[in-house]
Amino acid sequence: MSEVPGSVDDVVALLKAGEYVPDRSLATVLYLALALGRPLFLEGEAGVGKTEVAKVLASQLGRRLIRLQCYEGLDVSSAVYEWNVARQLVEIRLAEAADDDTSRDQLAADLYDDRFLIKRPILEALEPHVEGPPVLLIDELDRTDEPFEAYLLEVLSDFQVTIPELGTIHADARPIVIITSNRTREVHDALKRRCLYHWVDYPSAQREMDILRTRLPGADERLAWQVVEFVQALREKELFKSPGVAETIDWTQALLALDATAIESGVVDATLGVVLKYQDDIEAIRGEVADALIKKITEAAH
Ligand SMILES: Nc1ncnc2c1ncn2[C@@H]1O[C@H](COP(=O)(O)OP(=O)(O)OP(=O)(O)O)[C@@H](O)[C@H]1O
Ligand SMILES: [Mg+2]
Repeated sequence: MSEVPGSVDDVVALLKAGEYVPDRSLATVLYLALALGRPLFLEGEAGVGKTEVAKVLASQLGRRLIRLQCYEGLDVSSAVYEWNVARQLVEIRLAEAADDDTSRDQLAADLYDDRFLIKRPILEALEPHVEGPPVLLIDELDRTDEPFEAYLLEVLSDFQVTIPELGTIHADARPIVIITSNRTREVHDALKRRCLYHWVDYPSAQREMDILRTRLPGADERLAWQVVEFVQALREKELFKSPGVAETIDWTQALLALDATAIESGVVDATLGVVLKYQDDIEAIRGEVADALIKKITEAAH
């Protein structure tokens, strides 16, 4: 287990060691979240590296990553805990078969015992772990509904959950909590107030180039620059869905797989589906617009 980073520079170094290239503001807010023991709320467009922060942090600190993937209708039994009713029933049958008063009295006390508790991600994250407090990733919170968000308030302010039959379970050591949202709806203020907030933006061209160098070390520098400039230009256009960093990496990989050494009309048109995921966007860019972008990028390089 590594120590939690002691400065913003240490956070930058830690993330880079995990092949994540952060900008200074993300590293700063992450440092503060770690230092103050506060949850970190990351909001931003798709594919800009929100989920990846939690994964890299856990692997670099040698902590367990406990992931709660949110969806509509997510409830306490999937997110926090559930009683193992089938096993409880078996226990009841066994006690009945034994047919003496002591086993029955014992049964009532035993039925809501830890053994029958199925722990889901949030409860697991509050328990002690040998490697040190885990990283709890609550991913895509905007997909859940408000009752679940309200439930999270207790967890995020007191780091505890209450199980009526057992009592309150409190974390002795706070997990590192990272919450992500794509902002398909606004998350409630009360929840945001319990967290440090950071908007994860698209990277600058320079940082996106650094990301490519880190993730695809063998890639041709000139091709990588052209891809970055093309994608950055696409983000300026009115599109239904702008490409994220994930698409930049995928596209470069696709071009390398096709042995392309530079972006040119034919190969760009043929591979636009790696970068843009809506037919209307592809139609809007393919052909003339793409050619104009390619011309601008290749001429600027001369
Ligand atoms: N700063 C970065 N440094 C290195 N790689 C990055 C960076 N940002 C994004 N990536 C790459 O982009 C991929 C997508 O990132 P990630 O899945 O974290 O995006 P996301 O913001 O969670 O997207 P979504 O909202 O769709 O879930 C990652 O697998 C990672 O390879
Ligand atoms: Mg994600």
